[in-house]
Amino acid sequence: MRTTEKYTGEQEKIRQEGCIERAEEYVKALSIRLGRRPTCCVTTFGCQMNARDSEKLAGILERAGYELTEDESADFVIFNTCTVRDNANQRVYGRLGHLNSLKKKNPHMKIALCGCMMQEKAVIEKIQKSYGFVDLIFGTHNIYKFAELLVRMFEADRMVVDIWEDTDQIVENLPVERKYPFKSGINIMFGCNNFCSYCIVPYVRGRERSRNPEDIINEIKKMAEEGVVEVMLLGQNVNSYGKNLAAPMSFAQLLREVEKIDGIKRIRFMTSHPKDLSDELIQVMKESKKICRHLHLPLQSGSTRILKAMNRRYTKEQYLALAEKIRKEIPDIAITTDIIVGFPGEEPADVDETIDVVKKVQYDNAFTFIYSKRTGTPAAAMENQVPEEVVKEGFDRLLKVVQDTARQRVSLLEGQVQEALVEGVNQQERGLLTGRLSNNTIVHFPGDARLIGQIVPVYLEQCHGFYYIGKLHERP
Ligand code: SAH
Ligand code: SF4
Ligand code: F3S
Repeated sequence: MRTTEKYTGEQEKIRQEGCIERAEEYVKALSIRLGRRPTCCVTTFGCQMNARDSEKLAGILERAGYELTEDESADFVIFNTCTVRDNANQRVYGRLGHLNSLKKKNPHMKIALCGCMMQEKAVIEKIQKSYGFVDLIFGTHNIYKFAELLVRMFEADRMVVDIWEDTDQIVENLPVERKYPFKSGINIMFGCNNFCSYCIVPYVRGRERSRNPEDIINEIKKMAEEGVVEVMLLGQNVNSYGKNLAAPMSFAQLLREVEKIDGIKRIRFMTSHPKDLSDELIQVMKESKKICRHLHLPLQSGSTRILKAMNRRYTKEQYLALAEKIRKEIPDIAITTDIIVGFPGEEPADVDETIDVVKKVQYDNAFTFIYSKRTGTPAAAMENQVPEEVVKEGFDRLLKVVQDTARQRVSLLEGQVQEALVEGVNQQERGLLTGRLSNNTIVHFPGDARLIGQIVPVYLEQCHGFYYIGKLHERP
């Protein structure tokens, strides 16, 4: 069974390679017309999974002959969209208006849309009706066919739309253009089967599919050879990795294999669902020299009643017990979370429960979101939607506690020397570099840009709320 899947995957890869060559011809012709190399811009909305998909798009565009730029007045612009909350969609529409005016000035400009938002029928209808200047639309399931779709776009004289409901296909080894040479995300699974009642992701990303461990390990080995020192394993619920493989394997087992890869110095992962977090995983994290001291453990709500309506499948007490166990086993770990305020039926007393969890767990950071009604999800049909002013009141109350706790937690490292991976130069202040600690906290410190990509010891001199100002620690 697996060999057949693999075979079709291989065949598809060869087909797509052929399409890249054909796309190259079109880009070459355009370059002659323009008298310069055509540019392209990939703009990402949404999560790390989308960011990784964008690197795949960029890899193909670069192979086809485009020069990558971050400037949206490029010859080819693609928006990789997100639909997890309505404000993500609104941002896309706003930016599309701007692209339209650019295209009026440069009629040869091509505009493409892809990603999660495109998996919604209503969105496609709206774009076809009101944004006719878009040249290509595709979704999350056929992204591996991007080269083929590019060719179709060059050959068509009207909008090309190609959306699939779902797929079980995973195509390996297509080109990727990484944003950073020294760190990279890597998909270990796609889709989600959890159907939290507020969430649209399972509808736009399809059913859960894990990649074969050998494909993952080989890709990481290749990255390490190319200079990557930090990998982030990506999935909507990494704790359920491997359950549907022909030879089932746990996420903790996969981590053990990744740990063995020479050259990889740091391992991160995103996201962990509390209901599936095993004791085995805690042990692997505890014993590991490479897994970072950071766990993102989305809470969503601290009220058992609301958690039940959200279909999260854990109670407040179970979550607290889990957090306590993790803290006991790995005391230096930073725990971060996601919280939603304003889920249907939520009352101020439920927000109090959430605040109670925040105080008890002591998060290093919490992303707080106002509930957004997503068409087609069970929560959207619930009658007891919360009035805006009540949501706002709860949100502000929660935010204050989250910020106070995070400030306290982050400041605990003041005066220590910690290793930081230097990620770049600070955009705001000249002469400062930006590094990331194992526990995900940011530190800015004076230093030479040649240190970018290296892991260096930094003295954490002063905590400024959510980040540090430090200095390089000279090894004795
Ligand atoms: N798979 C991840 C989350 C992906 S979405 C997980 O389960 O942890 C990222 C975050 O967006 C979620 O954790 C949730 O807090 C938030 N979110 C998802 N749907 C939302 C909605 N309808 N309204 C507001 N926030 C939402
Ligand atoms: Fe959405 Fe829940 Fe799946 Fe996360 S686990 S992507 S919140 S349905
Ligand atoms: Fe958004 Fe899709 Fe990620 S909806 S959060 S980009 S999986």
